[in-house]
Amino acid sequence: MNESFYITTPIYYVNDVPHIGHAYTTVAADVMARYKRLVGEDVYFLTGTDEHGQKVEKTAGGKGLRPREFVDSIVPRYKELWRLLNVSNDDFIRTTEERHKKSVQHLFRVLQEKGDIYKGEYEDWYCIPCESFWTSLQLKEGNKCPDCGRPVEKLKEESYFFRMSKYEKPLLEHIETHPDFVGPESRRNEIVSFIKTGLRDLSISRTTFKWGIPVPGDERHVIYVWLDALTNYITALGYPNTDDEKFKKFWPEENPVAVHVIGKDILRFHAVYWPCFLLAAGLPLPKTIMSHGWWTIEGEKMSKSRGNVVDPYAVVEELDRHGIGVDGFRYFLMREVPFGLDGDYSREALVSRINSDLANDLGNLHFRTVNMIEKYLGGEVPDKPDYEKINRMYPGWFPLKPSGDLAAVPMFFNISMKSMSFNNALQGMFDWVSSLNKVIDYSAPWTLAKSDKEEDKALLKAVLGVSAQALKASAVLLSPFMPSKMQMIWEQLGHTEPLSSMRIDITNPYFFIYEKGQKIKRGPAPFPRIETERIKALKAASEQKSKSPQPPFDKGGQKGDLSIDDFMKVDLRVGKILEAERVPKSDKLIKMRIDIGEETRQIVGGIGKAYSPEGLVGRTVVVVANLKPVRLMGIESQGMVLAAGDVNTLKLAGFGAGDDAGKPAPGTRVK
Ligand code: MSP
Repeated sequence: MNESFYITTPIYYVNDVPHIGHAYTTVAADVMARYKRLVGEDVYFLTGTDEHGQKVEKTAGGKGLRPREFVDSIVPRYKELWRLLNVSNDDFIRTTEERHKKSVQHLFRVLQEKGDIYKGEYEDWYCIPCESFWTSLQLKEGNKCPDCGRPVEKLKEESYFFRMSKYEKPLLEHIETHPDFVGPESRRNEIVSFIKTGLRDLSISRTTFKWGIPVPGDERHVIYVWLDALTNYITALGYPNTDDEKFKKFWPEENPVAVHVIGKDILRFHAVYWPCFLLAAGLPLPKTIMSHGWWTIEGEKMSKSRGNVVDPYAVVEELDRHGIGVDGFRYFLMREVPFGLDGDYSREALVSRINSDLANDLGNLHFRTVNMIEKYLGGEVPDKPDYEKINRMYPGWFPLKPSGDLAAVPMFFNISMKSMSFNNALQGMFDWVSSLNKVIDYSAPWTLAKSDKEEDKALLKAVLGVSAQALKASAVLLSPFMPSKMQMIWEQLGHTEPLSSMRIDITNPYFFIYEKGQKIKRGPAPFPRIETERIKALKAASEQKSKSPQPPFDKGGQKGDLSIDDFMKVDLRVGKILEAERVPKSDKLIKMRIDIGEETRQIVGGIGKAYSPEGLVGRTVVVVANLKPVRLMGIESQGMVLAAGDVNTLKLAGFGAGDDAGKPAPGTRVK
C-alpha cells in the first residue's frame, strides 16, 4: 500500500483579501503535495477559510452586511486565487459549513465528557483583531497587544475553560520524543521554552458576540475561534466519523503523517493548543507543525496603512504579460528565501531571479539542447551518453560529485524536499543546470558538429545526451514548483503522457535515462527574458550609440570635444562581484557574475594576471552596463569592468577597501 501524506495550510481569515503572505503558505503546501504525489504517495491536501469571530462580525456590520453575506462575498477571492496559482488542493473547507459545526460541537462534547471543560469567569485583556486574550504581563507598553501592537480591551465574562494545564507534561514529553514535531529546529526550542513557563487553562467560549458555533447545550456561548478553526483539520477527514475511510487513512491511530504548514505567527496555536485538544480527545498528534517566516516588502512590514500590500493577482497578471506566468511567481517564492526564515519581496528581486535562473540558466539549457538535438542529431536524443568522456574533459564540473555521478543530484533534491528545504532542493538542481551550460559553452557543439572526426562526434552526442538528461530530470523534479512550464519542456522532450501522471521511485535515481529512439519536439521558449523598462531604455540607448559616430576622444587623454550628453550615454553602474572563475585555457580572462542592481550580468574581463578569482568575489566595481554583448573564447560577456594600468598590475576602479558599509549599492549610477 502507498504511504499516506496529509498536508494542510492554515485556513485564512476572511476579513481581508488574499496577499503574498497567504499565497506563500499555500504555494509551499502545494509544492509539497505535488512532490509527494510525484514520489508515489497518497496525498490529501486541504486549504480553506476561517470565517467566524468578533472581527468578522464587526467588519460585516461596518459594511452593512450580515456576517454570512460578507463571508460569502470574500471566499471566492481565495478560491479563485488558488485556481490561478495552480494549487492542487483536494478539499476546501469553510468553517461556516454544517459538517464543521457538527465536528466542532462533537469535539467540545468529548472534552466535556472527559472532564476537561469547566465553567468559570474570565477577565483579561483581549485583542479583537487577533482574537486573543493576554495577561497584563504580556502586554506591550501602553496596553497594546504583543502580537499586533493595537490597543486591547479589558473583558470580563462567563466562560468555559479547557484544562490545558493538565496537558503540559504530556505535550512536553511528546515534543521531546518526536524531534520532527515542530520545524524548523529553532521554532521547536521557542515552543519548548513557552510550555516550560507553564500552561494556563484556556478560555474556550465567548458571550460577547454571536457569530460563531454555539456551545452545545448552552447557546449563549459561542466556541472560541481557535478551537473552532483548528478543528478544521479533522473535520475535512470526516470527524466525528473516525471510521470514515478518509479519516483512517490520513489520521490513523498510529503516527499519522500529517503536516500543518503555517506562518511563525500562529505557531503557538498549532504547536500548543491543538495538540492539547487532540491529547484530551484521545486522538493522535500530527507529525509536524512546519512554520515559515514572514515576508517584508522592500524592507518594510507589509500593511494596508503603508499601502504596500502585494496582491498576488497583480503579480501574476504582470508575469503573464511577459510570458512567464504563474510559475515564475511560484519559483521565486520557493527559491528566494530558505523556508523558515523571513524574506524580502521586491519587484526587482522577482525580475532578477526569473531572468537569471529561469530565462538564462534553465531557458538556455532548454533552448540549446532541444535546438541542437534537432539540428545536429536529427531530433533523436542520444540514449547512452558517455559521462566519463565529459568528465575526463571537464573534471569536477558536475555539481556535488566530481565523479559526475548524475544520480547524486536527484538524491540531494529528495533529501532537501524531505525536510522542506525548498531553496536547497532548487539550488542543487540549478547548479546542475548551470554546470551543463558550462559544458556546452566549452565543448561548443556547434563546432563539433562541423567536424568529421569520430572523437568529436562522440563528444557531441555525449554533451547533448547529458544535457537532455539534465533537462528531463529538471522537468520532472521541478514540476511540483512549476507545473505548467515543466509540462511544456516535457512535451518538447517528446513525451506524450502528462507530466502530472509521472511517478518516480526515489530509491532509483536514474529515472531521467532515455530509451533509444526518443524524438524531441521543439516548441516555444518557456521562459522569455523579462525586458524591464530600464533594460529596454538601456538597449535603445546602446543601439542609438552603435549607430552614431564614435565619441570624439583624443588619444592619450587630451582634452576633446565630448559633450556631457555623449558621456551620459555610457551607462556606468556600481556592481558587486558575486562569483568569479578563470576561463579555462586562458591566463588572462576571468568570468564573473556581477550584481548590478536590477539584474546580474555575466562579464568576462582580462584581469586574471592581476587578480585571483577568490580575491574578486565581494568587491564593488564599476561596470559599463550598456555595451553590446561580445563573446570572448566562446563565452558571452555582457559588459565591462573598469580598470587602470598594465595587464599584469592593473587595478580595478572601485570605492575603497573594506566591507559594504558606506559603499553605494549595486545598480547606483556612476556619474
Ligand atoms: N485564521 C488563522 C489561521 C487558522 S488555522 C487553523 C490565520 N489566518 S491569516 O489569514 O491571518 O493568516 C494565514 C497565514 O498567512 C498564516 O500562516 C500567516 O503566517 C500567513 N501570513 C500572513 N502575512 C504574512 C506575511 N507577511 N508573510 C508570510 N506569511 C504571512 O492566522
